[in-house]
Amino acid sequence: MKTAAITAYGGPEVLTVHDAPAPEPGPGEALVAVVASTINPVDVKTRIPGTPQRVGRFPAVLGWDIAGIVVTAPAGSGWAPGDRVITMHPPAPDGSGSWQQYAAIPAERLAPAPESVDLPTAATLPLAGLTADQALRRLDLHAGERLLVTGAAGGVGGMAVQLAAAAGIEVTALVSRPEHESAVLDLGAASAHSSPATAGEFDTIFDAAGVFDYPRLLREGGRLVTVSDDTIPAAVEQRASMAVHNYVQHDRQRLRALSALVDAGKITLRVADLYPLADIEQAHRRAEAGGLLGKVVITM
Ligand SMILES: NC(=O)c1ccc[n+]([C@@H]2O[C@H](COP(=O)([O-])OP(=O)(O)OC[C@H]3O[C@@H](n4cnc5c(N)ncnc54)[C@H](OP(=O)(O)O)[C@@H]3O)[C@@H](O)[C@H]2O)c1
Repeated sequence: MKTAAITAYGGPEVLTVHDAPAPEPGPGEALVAVVASTINPVDVKTRIPGTPQRVGRFPAVLGWDIAGIVVTAPAGSGWAPGDRVITMHPPAPDGSGSWQQYAAIPAERLAPAPESVDLPTAATLPLAGLTADQALRRLDLHAGERLLVTGAAGGVGGMAVQLAAAAGIEVTALVSRPEHESAVLDLGAASAHSSPATAGEFDTIFDAAGVFDYPRLLREGGRLVTVSDDTIPAAVEQRASMAVHNYVQHDRQRLRALSALVDAGKITLRVADLYPLADIEQAHRRAEAGGLLGKVVITM
């Protein structure tokens, strides 16, 4: 099978296509023919020199999202050959990851792909969807509270806007560029800003962009959850009753629920660009350039 792997830390040029034996599924594992994956900021952060996210060994296949088709499944797992599935599948210490044509995955980690979209589109759901869902739950929003989502045009922020709006929360969206304001209004934000100075003051902040220059975005006693890696400044912590980082965990049941929300029309999945596996280097350059409205998708 073909894989896209890094052979060293470095620029996009360290990503090359390799031949590798297809994995043999172990006990409890399904063999999945991967149809598509995505590029997320974590993949770029894992690739660059000096990264704290060190890989187990080289060559290392990266990628966290999988949408694919079950080839074989353990008896009694509930899965059968031909089933369309999605999962969050981070790189493993043995060098395997998501940017490979086949993956052996514990059957209990699989969720049904949404039926209303194709698999390349479905690949945009697992990491960004679970991240947004879990951080929103941690914010524990109450009726009437005002929420600011930063990085709202991005993969995680865009999911957060849609999930919160679907739950009846009034969402204000902060984006990096004026031309993205209409896109986040389309996702369900009540208002959109491209400058934090004009956004106002909020009971709660879902930070997907590491935007801490304006502590007064958070009211005294408000709550902030960030998914960025940036340190939360003391000025924000002093104002907040809660100011925390949140890190995504795989959750098959919640992924199943998110898949159902796609089919119910409550979440729109956004593909910014599609590249074949062979063009992994160009795909990384596109992802790193920013300004995306959705995910860069890799097809196998
Ligand atoms: N904690 C976790 O478990 C977890 C899980 C997944 C992701 N993450 C992190 O969450 C962050 C977002 O991920 P993502 O997949 O949503 O990335 P993304 O699709 O690249 O979205 C990030 C968005 O933030 C925007 N942005 C950057 N600076 C901004 C600013 N000052 N004000 C407003 N918007 C700004 C970007 O705009 P431009 O493109 O125009 O710069 C982009 O629209 C990344 O740091 C990622 O590593 C964390």
